Amino acid sequence: MDDRFNTAAGWVLFSGIIALGLSIISGMFFDTHRPEAMGYPIEVADAEGGADAGPDLGTLLASADVAAGESEAAGRCGTCHTFNQGGAAGTGPNLYGVLGKGFASNPGFANYSGDLKGAGGTWDWETMNRWILNPKGLVPGTTMGFAGLKNDQARANILAYLNSLGSNLPLPEPVVAEEADEGDAAEGEEATEGEAEATEGEAEAADGEADASEETAEAEEAAAE
Ligand code: HEC
Repeated sequence: MDDRFNTAAGWVLFSGIIALGLSIISGMFFDTHRPEAMGYPIEVADAEGGADAGPDLGTLLASADVAAGESEAAGRCGTCHTFNQGGAAGTGPNLYGVLGKGFASNPGFANYSGDLKGAGGTWDWETMNRWILNPKGLVPGTTMGFAGLKNDQARANILAYLNSLGSNLPLPEPVVAEEADEGDAAEGEEATEGEAEATEGEAEAADGEADASEETAEAEEAAAE
């Protein structure tokens, strides 16, 4: 090897070392650590819909009491409705097996309003729940003279009783929103920890490289002398 090559190689090495040194020094002044959580945090409104939304129908029905529903129904609805199989129509139709049927579909009742007949729905859990809560809220022109029952559990009891009268629909699933939320949060934390470890690993690797190139530089210098 001639002297000019060694000089040139020396300069290339020298500038490399300077560059490395500068990047190490700037790293001391400018803190380049990653933030704990990447990205901008976005506040999401509580999905449960506030405190006054109350428990869902599935949860209410899971603890509903058929016997309590029977006496509720006798007291609140019995002046106009019968509940026994093949029972006579009163001011309103007989309600045996009504859950799961179409609106205004009882052939033994001749006085359905045009509005209920025209609404064209099915008495599923949600619809019947809305009806007992507020009949005119569901079918504004109905002739059912009942103001509505606001008590969630009393309504659920009546629903469970109606279902026991030959309908036997499967109960709706209770909503378990809270557990799902916790699961997501735990996953998020793990992911962030993982990233932090990865960053430390990279930093160590970079140190290793620096050591290695310093050693090569020393060896080359020794060779040049
Ligand atoms: C003052 C009388 C009255 C009371 C009290 C009353 N209803 Fe009715 N109900 C009616 C009348 C009248 C109709 C027919 C409404 C129409 O055609 O618009 C009706 C219709 C219904 C229907 C629709 C049936 C079908 O075949 O589509 C259901 C279900 C029902 N009532 C349930 C109840 C329940 C449950 C209660 C008690 C919480 C209740 N009603 C209280 C008079 C009453």
